[in-house]
Amino acid sequence: MEIVIASEAELARRAADEIVSLVAEKPSAVIGIATGSSPVVIYDELARRVRAGELSLAHCTAFALDEYVGLPVGHPESYVEVMHRDFSNKVDIDDSRVHAPNGAAEDLVAAAEAYEKAIADAGGVDLQLLGIGANGHIAFNEAGSPLTSRTHVEDLTERTRRDNSRFFDDDLSAVPFQGLTQGVGTIMEARKLVMIATGLNKADAVVRMIEGPVTQECSSSALQNHPNAIVLLDEDAASKLTRSR
Ligand code: F6R
Repeated sequence: MEIVIASEAELARRAADEIVSLVAEKPSAVIGIATGSSPVVIYDELARRVRAGELSLAHCTAFALDEYVGLPVGHPESYVEVMHRDFSNKVDIDDSRVHAPNGAAEDLVAAAEAYEKAIADAGGVDLQLLGIGANGHIAFNEAGSPLTSRTHVEDLTERTRRDNSRFFDDDLSAVPFQGLTQGVGTIMEARKLVMIATGLNKADAVVRMIEGPVTQECSSSALQNHPNAIVLLDEDAASKLTRSR
């Protein structure tokens, strides 16, 4: 695991550099997209590079990590819509090339299998962007989700629902109780992982991810076993690491 501690702007540049060199080598790269607030600075940096003519994502394919279960299609906080706003709308990738698990499907098991197949048919994920939950989750893999899990329905913890209520006008009752999420096993198959974590509220989770045991109680700890993982931290998120200096 390579750990970088720098300003948020520098972290965004570093993540964008990774994507630029991947796409230079493979214009049809498969990129895994995280939603939430942490990666937005990266998408803004990618947008800047597209505008500057330094990058084109037009031939890439993107897969989201997860989606809420039960939100109506077109709900502004469904991750399909969030990806459109935060990512595809800003860069030059067509929405038809950006995929998310179908959390509105009647048969969620079939939807999970279809998503795994879509990722495999695309040749697997070349580079997966990740954020970390304040409880240590990656995607929606909460404590107890096996480290070998594939795309599945996950019950969201109270903590995750509370953390995400800020996207639902602070109305906890509006936050779905479940997500359809790539499993840790699915995520670990990506050829490169790039995690970004910023802010003091991530500091405890970051310690567990990097210095704690590898355990399904903290799904991000699986990154310790990935052969090609970069963890991008600002000073606040890194502040509880014992070896950060
Ligand atoms: C979102 C996702 C989640 C978030 C995490 C951090 O697709 O998979 O694991 O990355 O909850 O969210 P933010 O960045 O909003 O703090």
